[in-house]
Amino acid sequence: MSILVTGGAGYIGSHTCIELLESDYDLVVLDNLSNSSVESIRRVENITGKSIKFYKADLLNRNEVEQVFIENTIEAVIHFAGLKAVGESVHKPLQYYQNNISGTIILCETMEKYGVYNMVFSSSATVYGLQQQVPLSEELPIKATNPYGRTKLMIEEILRDLYNSNNSWSIALLRYFNPVGAHPSGLIGEDPNGIPNNLIPFISQVAVGKLSCLNIFGNDYDTKDGTGIRDYIHVVDLAYGHIKALEKVLSSSGVDAYNLGTGKGYSVLEMIRSFEKASGRNIPYEIVGRRTGDIAISYADPSKAIAELKWIAKKGIKEMCEDSWRWQLHNPNGYKTETKVLRVT
Ligand code: NAD
Ligand code: UFG
Repeated sequence: MSILVTGGAGYIGSHTCIELLESDYDLVVLDNLSNSSVESIRRVENITGKSIKFYKADLLNRNEVEQVFIENTIEAVIHFAGLKAVGESVHKPLQYYQNNISGTIILCETMEKYGVYNMVFSSSATVYGLQQQVPLSEELPIKATNPYGRTKLMIEEILRDLYNSNNSWSIALLRYFNPVGAHPSGLIGEDPNGIPNNLIPFISQVAVGKLSCLNIFGNDYDTKDGTGIRDYIHVVDLAYGHIKALEKVLSSSGVDAYNLGTGKGYSVLEMIRSFEKASGRNIPYEIVGRRTGDIAISYADPSKAIAELKWIAKKGIKEMCEDSWRWQLHNPNGYKTETKVLRVT
């Protein structure tokens, strides 16, 4: 029996593959490599000393997806595959709806056909949209503010309908807050295409000298220092959350949403200071206008995941920044960087 990981070559997927292999699961990874490199899979195998059966396949290609289910006995699916850039989704909504929603529907249809009813799905805190109160808890009404967010919201609803139609399904909807950091080996991490959109990858590239200055998007929010506050979560903690969610879906049925966050919020300026300490580098910045669509404060109420999944985030912003920096320093060109020195054998 194997666990199928869609999008397993990507940032969060590759870290989750390590946790799965270390928990002795057999893995099959399906990824079209549209936003990743097969090098991440090779490095995961290197770190763990275990092998992964990899399919370069697209969720939109029903035959390719079905082939995976024909050739393997799949017990559960951890479904990461999707497009994730908020700004791009505003310009290319149809691409996002087709890739994320149609891809998920094809995956679920194939799962039903092969009698596989266990799924852990990558949702996002973006489904909370703009709320009046923090911390954000799972009972709040969900509403999205951009096409990417709407794909997550719609997929959550589709998966609830699926469970209502057939109670054999067992589904965890994991609402990630702000994943950052990298595996402590420095061998795998986030490898954005082009100029990063997100704060920590941007700061990392300023620290390493690839970019000259960080733009801080607004210092006039109603927060402690005027900059935006987020719940940054170490990707290794997040990855481990998938193991706990998998254990839950394998032992019960139903559909449940869980926040995966630390419950603590840090401002942009606090993150800059922490990164400067971790890297020993100065991060020049400039205050510019607010970014359209940004909210002032977002942080999780993680109590449901703590109570029901027996999961809690353990790593603080010091480790987040140190591990992001180690990955950036040793891999200035992401997975295109030669890793002879770092390779674990
Ligand atoms: P990522 O882009 O690194 O990983 C996604 C992977 O899916 C990539 O390897 C990509 O090649 C693959 N993929 C995309 N479309 C595919 C398709 N049609 N068929 C097969 N493979 C496909 O992103 P990530 O940061 O690892 O995010 C993983 C999941 O978590 C995504 O669903 C994302 O929306 C969600 N999420 C991410 C964040 C974040 O800040 N990183 C926050 C909340 C939710
Ligand atoms: N920020 C800057 N400058 C930058 C980048 C970001 O000041 O160059 C600020 C933002 O304004 C925000 C904070 O840093 O206050 C964090 O921004 P990110 O872009 O890193 O993260 P977001 O919270 O905007 O969005 C992320 C993901 C979304 C996801 C959301 C909730 O990118 O996909 O978290 O999970 F939906």
